[in-house]
Amino acid sequence: MSAGAEPYKEALAAAVRHATQWLASQPTRPVGPRQAARELAAAFGGELPQSGMPPADVVDYLASHAEPGLMAMPSGRFFGWVIGGTLPAAMAADWLVSSWDQNAVLRYATPAMAAIEEAAGGWLLQLLGLPEDSDVGFVTGATMANFTGLAAARWRLLKDAGWNLDRDGLFGAPRIHCIVGEERHETIDLALRYLGLGSPTVVASDDQGRIDAAELDCALDRALSSGPAPVLVCLQAGNLHSGAFDPFAAAIAVSKAHRAWVHVDGAFGLWAAAVPEFAGLTAGLGRADSWATDAHKSLNVPYDCGVAVVKDAQALRSAMGLNASYLIQDADGAGDPSQKVPELSRRARGVPVWAALKSLGRDGVAEQIRRLAASAARLAEKLAVLDGVEVLNDVGYTQISVAFGDDATTREVAARLIADGTVWMSGSRWHGRDVLRISVSNWTTDAADVTTAAEAVRTALEGVRTGAR
Ligand SMILES: Cc1ncc(COP(=O)(O)O)c(C=O)c1O
Repeated sequence: MSAGAEPYKEALAAAVRHATQWLASQPTRPVGPRQAARELAAAFGGELPQSGMPPADVVDYLASHAEPGLMAMPSGRFFGWVIGGTLPAAMAADWLVSSWDQNAVLRYATPAMAAIEEAAGGWLLQLLGLPEDSDVGFVTGATMANFTGLAAARWRLLKDAGWNLDRDGLFGAPRIHCIVGEERHETIDLALRYLGLGSPTVVASDDQGRIDAAELDCALDRALSSGPAPVLVCLQAGNLHSGAFDPFAAAIAVSKAHRAWVHVDGAFGLWAAAVPEFAGLTAGLGRADSWATDAHKSLNVPYDCGVAVVKDAQALRSAMGLNASYLIQDADGAGDPSQKVPELSRRARGVPVWAALKSLGRDGVAEQIRRLAASAARLAEKLAVLDGVEVLNDVGYTQISVAFGDDATTREVAARLIADGTVWMSGSRWHGRDVLRISVSNWTTDAADVTTAAEAVRTALEGVRTGAR
């Protein structure tokens, strides 16, 4: 006999109560956590209890003890790393995904999940201007989306070089020349490492971190100097420090002239393709072969959700697919989810993406991305007029890198901001300097948050100068 709803009711009601309190606290609470993991350990650890606790009490215990260790990432005053908040429809859809508890491996077994994720995938292709016949896989994040795209690339490039990767593995295979820009995200190197492809050749970038297309052309010539060879080029839409976009039209043209597979890491930048005014940033991007993005960044669905898009469905399904007699595959050609992602068992994480897109529509997504960039521009303007503040990048998208004279001052400003907790921004290093890195990625960030953020930075800098505690 199945349990029915009764055993769940109190626990779910407690979860709704705690979630509502948490969300209600976002506009005013300090952003940073008040306790470190080691301080929280006692509340959650110790001996495994011999006997259990009623479900609603577990939820109450969990929420009240976790509270001091939560970062207000859903707050409009959170500007750290590149982290989006959560749209209401996406959050509620995510809760439904948990209650439906579908193992979204096979179209045959969980048709509703497959239909929703396929619709979401199709909408993403339309929204981002990517080839309509591409395969779309919903993975945990851009790291795995990069991995997935590059795994498909490896399969295709080796097949075209006459090598049977599936049968013979990588040992003795033709070398794949991997070429990346100087300022690619580290997860590209990680994915290449996972795939046994080694360290890439690095091509110089300009002052905003955009790959130099002429240098790329030379690197491609060098890679092919002793004859045809498999080549993989990784480009980037959205530089972590500057928000800059690689020059896609030129870089893809030279790559294609050398018969390279082109992968684009667009973890947060691919979303610029949804905004007509940003067409110049993403022009030509649709001519690549694979793309990675994060729905948990600029689209604002709950963690976790990345998206892998691969034009060559055969390559993707060969790299990721598996056959087993007990898995009943749908024969209509759309491909099971498990053929497009590294996992077998999986959560239908594309469902919150569908809900986000359905609630915003094409115009709403464009407006959301436009607003993120406009808030970043406004914040950069407010910071640039402060005495002693240098905005180091051309702020054309959602990212700002700021320095305050010498590195020690910049580090201290960042530390004071975090200690103060009004806003949250993290330090980094860019072009040999310590920087305060600001990312505007939350759909709720408004003009008041921007003013608060500028004021918090001004106060922190003044504190460093005066030594005030
Ligand atoms: C350009 C870029 N690529 C990849 C990643 C990794 O994304 P994830 O943490 O979702 O795996 C990030 C994260 O910020 C990023 O900015």
